[in-house]
Amino acid sequence: MGLKKIKDNVFWAGAVDWDRRLFDSLIPIPDGTSYNAYLIFGKDKTALLDTVDPSMTDVLMQNLKDVKSIDFIISHHAEQDHSGSIPAVLGRYGNAKVVTSSKGKALLVDHLHIPDDRIVTVEDGARLDLGGRTLEFIYTPWVHWPETMVSYLHEDKILFTCDLFGSHLAVSGLYCEEEWKVCESAKRYYAEVMMPFRTNIKKHLERLAKYDTAIIAPSHGPLYNNIDCIVKAQTQWVSDAVSNEVIIPYVSMHGSTRLLVDYLTDALAARGIKVERFDLTVTDLGKLAIALVDAATVVIGSPTVLTGAHPIVISAVFLANALRPKLKFSSIVGSYGWGGRMIEDIQKTMPNLKAQMLEPVLVKGKPDAQAYSAVERLAQDIAAKHHDMNIL
Ligand code: FEO
Repeated sequence: MGLKKIKDNVFWAGAVDWDRRLFDSLIPIPDGTSYNAYLIFGKDKTALLDTVDPSMTDVLMQNLKDVKSIDFIISHHAEQDHSGSIPAVLGRYGNAKVVTSSKGKALLVDHLHIPDDRIVTVEDGARLDLGGRTLEFIYTPWVHWPETMVSYLHEDKILFTCDLFGSHLAVSGLYCEEEWKVCESAKRYYAEVMMPFRTNIKKHLERLAKYDTAIIAPSHGPLYNNIDCIVKAQTQWVSDAVSNEVIIPYVSMHGSTRLLVDYLTDALAARGIKVERFDLTVTDLGKLAIALVDAATVVIGSPTVLTGAHPIVISAVFLANALRPKLKFSSIVGSYGWGGRMIEDIQKTMPNLKAQMLEPVLVKGKPDAQAYSAVERLAQDIAAKHHDMNIL
């Protein structure tokens, strides 16, 4: 791939992973990703900012083939997609030191067995002078691990943000060119990775806004040389505002739950509420996560199987609970044959969701007029709650 020039003496040196389709053995990434490393040549010292996933160490080492010396390897984040190739770089550049946050050091030792004496720590606000190029380190814990930090290159006004502002998107160019496409990938990235840390990110964005930034250089996906769109989008995602929207993830075994979901969809739409449905047997969980970023309400649909909620529903609810979306309201619709504890199974899987539970609709067998009347009541409850909270 080779080096790509960003500014004089500042280069992208990472790897594009066109074919990867799953992250953390969990997260779908339909458009691939990249691991962005950067090189800064000061008059006196050279710094490599982050490395690449170990699966692509060879690409990074090839990119560095003409680089005679590296003095500092900045580790913004110890996760291996950014720090996993540090041991190889340290092996080639015997005098290089890893520069990281105080919490980063412990994680690098634990996870990558990097020798203690090859690591130096920097405090929040510390500066590193490379000779005509000055990096400032800014602690940003919990984007996405507790040790994460970003850095700001003063002379070129570049903010290196690691996971923050990242997108799982493989592109051949350097910068964001198709804004809508990058924004969609960035929203997927936020939804799948960053959403649990929304309140932390909100604070960090306020602090980072004080830096005069011309270029945002994340460690996944394209860079931004027009930063307004991504900053505005991120600010919206982490805000407390929710949209007049109901998300319905569901599974139906024999059609009863689907009939309830169909009826609810129409009843909500008739009240001017946008609905997004996800048949969990076929859905991309990333799309469900994206939908949960802004929605006011979720209604989970499940049949009763082996006396409880459908396992695919439980798996999706478990994930949604871990992602901690800013939902305000929730409910459950579903059916049973002769008994069970479907509702209880779902409720106890979502303790992190602070959403108010509206009265569920549970139907024996195929829905009848009484069942549809209950769904109508649920749609009305949701519409009234949205109206009362001025969710438009
Ligand atoms: Fe891209 Fe949290 O690693």
